[in-house]
Amino acid sequence: MKAKNCLIFGGSGQIGSNLIRKLTKNNLRVIVVTRNIHQKGLKIKTQANAGYIDIVESDIHDEEKIRKLFEKSDICINLIGILYENKKGNTFKNIHTVFPALLAKLCKQYDLESFIHLSALGINEAKDSKYAKTKLDGEKEIIRNFSKSIILRPSVVFSRSDNFTTQFMTLLNRLPIFPLYYSGETKFSPIHCSDLTDIIYYILSHDVNSQIIECIGPEVLTFKDILKILLDLIDKKRILIPFPFPLANLSAKFFQLLPKPLITQDQLRLLKYDNVASGKYKTNFDLGFPSKLRFYDEVKKYCYMWRSGGQFSTEKYDFKKVVKNK
Ligand SMILES: NC(=O)c1ccc[n+]([C@@H]2O[C@H](COP(=O)([O-])OP(=O)(O)OC[C@H]3O[C@@H](n4cnc5c(N)ncnc54)[C@H](OP(=O)(O)O)[C@@H]3O)[C@@H](O)[C@H]2O)c1
Repeated sequence: MKAKNCLIFGGSGQIGSNLIRKLTKNNLRVIVVTRNIHQKGLKIKTQANAGYIDIVESDIHDEEKIRKLFEKSDICINLIGILYENKKGNTFKNIHTVFPALLAKLCKQYDLESFIHLSALGINEAKDSKYAKTKLDGEKEIIRNFSKSIILRPSVVFSRSDNFTTQFMTLLNRLPIFPLYYSGETKFSPIHCSDLTDIIYYILSHDVNSQIIECIGPEVLTFKDILKILLDLIDKKRILIPFPFPLANLSAKFFQLLPKPLITQDQLRLLKYDNVASGKYKTNFDLGFPSKLRFYDEVKKYCYMWRSGGQFSTEKYDFKKVVKNK
């Protein structure tokens, strides 16, 4: 049987790389679009066997070029998303609303079999966040333009190549005290990247008739629980202090001036809302596809790099000390 062609946007990211491996191993061909083939080409290329992957460099505003890719595709998957805005047109509106709307229109015009779009959990509630509002507007546009779309709303996604656990373990290494936004009580349902890409493959290979699916992990953890688990795993003791909102907001205002901000005011607003199943939509558990990988067990497999002597630890391996102690 002829392998189907999946057109993937955002394939160089955490979820994209894992997904390319999963789909191509299962005999699907992928066409991966990136903004910069020189920077990202090598990483993308190594995720699949030759013959199963094509990499195309394109700006997401280059509709002519994107149309040509739709001509030879059966499925479209959009994984493009940003956490903060920057110049050059990378606004939340362009990335989360305008671009997904264009993809949905093209899916209809070129009669694709399905369109899978990655949105985010909790966006109905976080009305004061621009990130959430534009993701929600994007979803509405997609549903309006292409009825065969499936929207996935994951909670926070973790893996050894995330920007979440790895960044927190680096910060926990460096900072003697760590701020707890909203007293650390915000709830999450972390899902492992591999469980999420299993869900995407399951959807592509089964008849799933749910347009919005909330993708959650097997447990609910507060922000404070997550930090405590990470501290335990990297074997560090740090003071976790509740950070009053005005102070947190002021520091975010400063951080968002940096090219790669640690936190922005918009993210701070988002953090106020729980990131767990809403009860209003089906979850992967309802589809009969529960996620299994638990936060502690999985992070344990890669946290050693942040433990004492590890590559990312502030305490480097001291050979002389080890010899002296023998
Ligand atoms: N990770 C999470 O915890 C999480 C949680 C909820 C929802 N999501 C959603 O899931 C999706 C994928 O997440 P991820 O963690 O894999 O993201 P990621 O690692 O940050 O990757 C994002 C991808 O978006 C592309 N991209 C970013 N800005 C772009 C722009 N201006 N133009 C074109 N492409 C751009 C990048 O592609 P190139 O640089 O190659 O062009 C990159 O491959 C996103 O929509 C995200 O909002 C993620």
